[in-house]
Amino acid sequence: MRVVRLWTEFSNSGSLFFIPLPLTRHFYLWIMPKILFVLTLLAVVTGCKMKTAKPASQVLSSPDGKLNVTVFLTANGTPAYMLKHEESMLLDTSLLGLRFSGGINFTEGFEISGTEVRTIDETWTQPWGEQRQIRDHGNELLVKLNNKELPERSFSVRFRAYDDGVAFRYEFPQNIGNVVLQDEDTEFNLTADHLCWWGPGDWDITEHLYTTSRFSEIDATKKRNHPSLAQTYIPENAVNTPITMRTSEGLYLAFHEAALINYSDMTLKVDTQSLLMQAELVGRADGMKADLEGPFNTPWRMIQVAERAGDLIESSLILNLNEPNKIGDVSYFKPTKYAGIWWDMHLGRRGWDMEGGNHGATTAYAKEMMDFAAANNIGAILVEGWNTGWASWFGDGRPEQGPFDFVTPYPDYDLAEVVRYGREKGVDLIMHHETSSMPLAYEKWMDSAFALMQYHGIHTVKTGYVGTIIPKGEYHHGQFMINHFRKVVEHAATFNIAVNAHEPIKDTGTRRTWPNEISREGLRGQEFNAWCPDGGNPPEHASIVAFTRMLGGPIDYTPGIFDIKLKPYKPDNQVNTTLAQQLALYVVFYGPVQMVPDLLENYQDQPGLQFIRDVAVDWEQTRVLSGEPGDFVVIARQQRSSDRWFLGAVSDENARTLDVSLDFLEPGKRYTARIYRDGEGAHWNDNPTSLAIEEREVDAGDLITLALAPGGGAAISFIPVSQ
Ligand code: NOJ
Ligand code: CA
Repeated sequence: MRVVRLWTEFSNSGSLFFIPLPLTRHFYLWIMPKILFVLTLLAVVTGCKMKTAKPASQVLSSPDGKLNVTVFLTANGTPAYMLKHEESMLLDTSLLGLRFSGGINFTEGFEISGTEVRTIDETWTQPWGEQRQIRDHGNELLVKLNNKELPERSFSVRFRAYDDGVAFRYEFPQNIGNVVLQDEDTEFNLTADHLCWWGPGDWDITEHLYTTSRFSEIDATKKRNHPSLAQTYIPENAVNTPITMRTSEGLYLAFHEAALINYSDMTLKVDTQSLLMQAELVGRADGMKADLEGPFNTPWRMIQVAERAGDLIESSLILNLNEPNKIGDVSYFKPTKYAGIWWDMHLGRRGWDMEGGNHGATTAYAKEMMDFAAANNIGAILVEGWNTGWASWFGDGRPEQGPFDFVTPYPDYDLAEVVRYGREKGVDLIMHHETSSMPLAYEKWMDSAFALMQYHGIHTVKTGYVGTIIPKGEYHHGQFMINHFRKVVEHAATFNIAVNAHEPIKDTGTRRTWPNEISREGLRGQEFNAWCPDGGNPPEHASIVAFTRMLGGPIDYTPGIFDIKLKPYKPDNQVNTTLAQQLALYVVFYGPVQMVPDLLENYQDQPGLQFIRDVAVDWEQTRVLSGEPGDFVVIARQQRSSDRWFLGAVSDENARTLDVSLDFLEPGKRYTARIYRDGEGAHWNDNPTSLAIEEREVDAGDLITLALAPGGGAAISFIPVSQ
């Protein structure tokens, strides 16, 4: 707070003046920090106290003082900011502003008309999650901006600085009225050509592979490897968020947004020459981005900064930027593992559609699945293809009112009987609603669909949005769908229903506000390994996802495929990891619902299944022990309300040996560590199912050496010896 106060006093004294915009942007970017530094020094030395002028520059620091955001105005009154980590400039002059239709621009001609600062320090509890207690500790600066010529054109930018990153959002007053957002001009002006892990800024689909490249080499227009390119739309060289970077000094940055509500998704347009990223909001048919009505706030633009890659994952910044729980008690949702009638369809062994033959969703098969779940400490099952309509569920054949009514089961599926059987066995049913990307049809059916679930006491639904959005001209990530998704989640809450969405909008931490928003896909999940013609997710996939997509929130990846080669159903596809890595993913990827998706026969007599039986899905705390994006990651998590720990380690395509200190365990306590590791000769392609299991007694003072195979992993359960 020392720096905040210093700058506030200094700025309020009016000792800053406008600095003329020099000839080149680079010169400007170079000179600005120096001028600000000299002015700060002058203010400190002279203690100058001139009265009249408005404040023109502010500095906000993180509680540990390492991150400093400077907010100021350019010569023509454009709000701008810079970000420093200690002495290193991370973002140089980056402009702020928004433009609305009708030439209503909030881009220049502003003066700072006032500021407010405060410190936040509170601890809150997640009803379920990767960490029970979360500390929200940061400094906040509200910068009020007034247009000098059009005084009714006023807005504010609220900045927050935490030890693990900074964020800001625009806040508009009521008098802006109804406006149509044309563009947001927010910039992130990098100072070096960092190494980046990125995926394309697709307006429709976020199920792309990640690329590792220098910023200057980003080419997102290539649409890497998606099998249904026709339905994706990438208008610019823009990346999706979170995008993660490593600087040459070894600092890690991740750019994303928090609290994406009634707005459209932000992709980042990349200028590979000037190392600039600029907000590129997902649009709609008329070229506009959002309909807004004052007062409103934009989502937070968030920059995570970490000295250790693992700190990106441990950060709770995205949750802290969201509002507290506003739907109350969600104890109807119990984090759980779930099996399902699902992989059958992706392997092509059974169908969603009954008329197509080999129907998956039969009463008998659901009961068999429930028997398996009950015997293996798996709390629920998912049944896809239970409802009529699958004969024409995607593509141009979709009927106008939508293919599904979400209440009529196929004749060979007795919903009530399946629910009854599950209750007897202690296994819940997870409902499935594939909307075929027809949100308006779904909204029409939603009430009766949720009422049916409520009648049967079903508390979780997996939704899906396959295909191009109808109405045409809307995209998966535009305001229309952001609002649809919110509507579904809010409506579901009134029926005590939790939502796990596939083909979702991206995760921006809104689960804090609506904790019935439990998980989502939003990445290339396991299913791609079953049918994607590009060969599936590469061995490095998990080690990138953990540092990119997972920064948004929970993932429904569906780990745990044991028949790695998918024989005999998919001779041309396979999973590109070892079996040990499949186990490790239950710990590495966080999600309060974790599938156990393989065919039942593939789990039979498999010693590795014991790890899945044991592993928890709800956590007291999470520790990222080590990791590098694209190389490996080791994560330990303590089961909630328990003294059991679980550890997952995954490698990319390289073998590696890692020494892991067990100092996260409770000192003085003895644990039985059961280690599931890559066995003799294990290799993701040549010998993926070689798995070794060993047991030893350990304590917090021990070190475990893990030898990970190419595409390999290790999973460990730590169970206190007394248990
Ligand atoms: C895509 C989802 O990701 C997948 O899990 C589901 O099986 C299909 N849609 C059908 O709804
Ligand atoms: Ca999908």
